Amino acid sequence: MTVTIVGSQLGDEGKGALVDLWGGAADVVVRYQGGDNAGHTVVEGGDEYKLSLVPSGAVRGKVGILGNGCVVNPRTLFDEIDTLRKRGLEPDVRVAERAHVIMPYHRALDGIEEEAKSDSDLDAGTTGRGIGPTYEDKAGRRGIRVGDLLDPAVLRDRLDYVVPQKRALVEEVFGLDAGEAFDVDALHEEYAAIGERLAEEGMTVDSGQYLHERHEAGDELLFEGAQGTSIDIDHGIYPYVTSSNPTAGGAAVGSGVGPTVVGQGEVVGIVKAYLSRVGTGPLPTELTGTDEPLADHIREKGGEFGTVTGRPRRIGWLDVPMLRHAARANGFTGIAVNHLDVLAGLDEVKVGHAYAFDGDEIETVPTTTEQWARCEPVLKEFEPWPEVDWTAVAEAGYEAIPENARAYLDYVSTAVGVPIYAVGVGPDRAETIELHDPFER
Ligand code: IMP
Repeated sequence: MTVTIVGSQLGDEGKGALVDLWGGAADVVVRYQGGDNAGHTVVEGGDEYKLSLVPSGAVRGKVGILGNGCVVNPRTLFDEIDTLRKRGLEPDVRVAERAHVIMPYHRALDGIEEEAKSDSDLDAGTTGRGIGPTYEDKAGRRGIRVGDLLDPAVLRDRLDYVVPQKRALVEEVFGLDAGEAFDVDALHEEYAAIGERLAEEGMTVDSGQYLHERHEAGDELLFEGAQGTSIDIDHGIYPYVTSSNPTAGGAAVGSGVGPTVVGQGEVVGIVKAYLSRVGTGPLPTELTGTDEPLADHIREKGGEFGTVTGRPRRIGWLDVPMLRHAARANGFTGIAVNHLDVLAGLDEVKVGHAYAFDGDEIETVPTTTEQWARCEPVLKEFEPWPEVDWTAVAEAGYEAIPENARAYLDYVSTAVGVPIYAVGVGPDRAETIELHDPFER
């Protein structure tokens, strides 16, 4: 069967911990969108692994697939693989030949375009990894795919076509100097060598074919979504979004496995008990003004600084309309709620239950970002719960969670209409309380 893990909010919900927990039962862990903009932290026995591209399952010795829907920066890929090898792991990572390659000029353009957009507040606060420009070229049918790296002549043709256009864009539209990142010869030399290494290490696959065979053979597939539903290019707060589909439908399109296969499996939404946001755009439940000390406290306690960029994250109360939207768009079968411990010991705990919008009360997210910016949260208050020994709670199980915190969890589960499969009360694998393993249904 398949289990698809999806971010329910704005990314950074702690998906890596659940992928790691349930990845134990999986044979193959698949990323289906995004690239090295994702920051997955996996903690095992006190050892911390920070990954941005290699699927988290690699820490568990699973086969990791970067599906055709991903955008792959081979420099990052090899850096991460080499680092994991130095730490004694042998990650088995295969890359879809249909996946698109993030080239140095994509990264350069990401920064240039963000800068240009910032004058009109249209910058998304990207991670600067070249994600958007690479997906643009994919849709514009001028991208370079992993399969192209394996054939130096094809690679040359592709570069000869696209690079002069990019160079002209930088020089003539933005009036800047294009550097080494726009030099066809240098790019060809480096990326043909990358193609050789990928071939030598047997790292490229037809992901759809490979996964089909594994699934037919009865193997368990875990789809690891990156980012989150509210920054999905179709279902998120456009234009403050990433350029791919983190939502569950992306698992099929971005891996080559049929939607009927993904749909017969489980789709688990990962929820952070409050909200954090690394990029720009409206955020109705954001803690600002007199609530700033509270936001600072949660940020520090929850370690809310970007894994990829190190930027401090914006903090807000749980936004329930956002979760209802995610539950519908993804077809969740269950959820996992993380970071419950971070809210312990507060004087007040609130959630945005609905929005007040132009005189109405609405329960889900409006379609345009301008409308979303006009939404005021309708807050619901919960009895706070005390700070406790969360390691002991995790050992004892769900019933040991303070009663008020369980009331909070019940509310969230009812609001999204699906059961809770796991609760995270700390960063270590042992601090995730499992109520149900989605592979065992
Ligand atoms: P990009 O994906 O780098 O193009 O960034 C687009 C938007 O998505 C920005 O607002 C980023 O902050 C956000 N974003 C991208 N990746 C992540 C992630 O892994 N977690 C949280 N936000 C992300």
